Amino acid sequence: MTARIALVTGGTGGIGTAIVKRLANLGHRVATNYRNEEKARDWQQRLQAEGYDITLVKGDVSSPEEAEVLVREVERKLGPVDILVNNAGITRDTTFHKMTPQQWNEVINTNLNSVYNMTRPVIEGMRERKWGRVIQISSINGQKGQYGQANYAAAKAGMHGFTISLAQENARFGITVNTVSPGYIGTDMVMAVPEEVRNKIVAQIPTGRLGSPEEIAYAVAFFIPDEASWITGANLSANGGQYMGW
Ligand code: CAA
Repeated sequence: MTARIALVTGGTGGIGTAIVKRLANLGHRVATNYRNEEKARDWQQRLQAEGYDITLVKGDVSSPEEAEVLVREVERKLGPVDILVNNAGITRDTTFHKMTPQQWNEVINTNLNSVYNMTRPVIEGMRERKWGRVIQISSINGQKGQYGQANYAAAKAGMHGFTISLAQENARFGITVNTVSPGYIGTDMVMAVPEEVRNKIVAQIPTGRLGSPEEIAYAVAFFIPDEASWITGANLSANGGQYMGW
């Protein structure tokens, strides 16, 4: 497989770490962003000990200015970005009648506006070079909705609307744009859901268990090789059968 330059947002998180490792294992050069210096350096050391050399760049994807700066920094360190994985995301779960403007805006800015902020600085280069992969990490809850997640589900559904529009605009330029929609994965984000609520959710998953971050990284990697160039605008569910919409 041709070695590419990949930028994975939120790469230090649960799913992000697995994506970063998988892309590196496939021979790509991988960068990610961070906000918290100390956490990021610890993460980098842990990965270094496992043999991974991942480029870290500071910047908050919810800020258009910081996103542009961090993309340019990755370009300076590694070269033009061929693969962008929009993975960074947060939750601020609460029922809508209690939701504050801050809880709404933080989730929309970090999970959805980030997709604009990050993709805008890389798309022209991909079009010029006639090759690119843009992959959104959405969620099962963008497909089916979720009690307590009006903000998150709106952002995650919006990500796929972005995917299918960008896919049309860029198909002639060798760029594919796809979404992966993970179900409930055993990350800190899901473990933060109160235990009794979480147990009820797991009981609704046909496989009878939470997914692993590696199972999402596998789905992401599927979209990358040249053999996948006919697949664009897809939404790949990886959710243990919890939601089977088509
Ligand atoms: N359907 C119907 N009723 C529900 C419900 C559901 N799914 N969930 C909760 N309720 C009911 C409760 O039974 C309770 O009813 P009573 O008051 O009659 O007993 C009531 O709602 C509680 O409502 P509150 O507004 O008081 O809720 P709360 O403040 O206790 O917390 C919550 C509500 C924050 C939504 C909490 O239930 C929660 O955290 N739920 C999990 C949300 C979730 O799945 N988040 C996913 C995080 S991981 C992720 O996002 C990754 C990914 O992509 C999958």
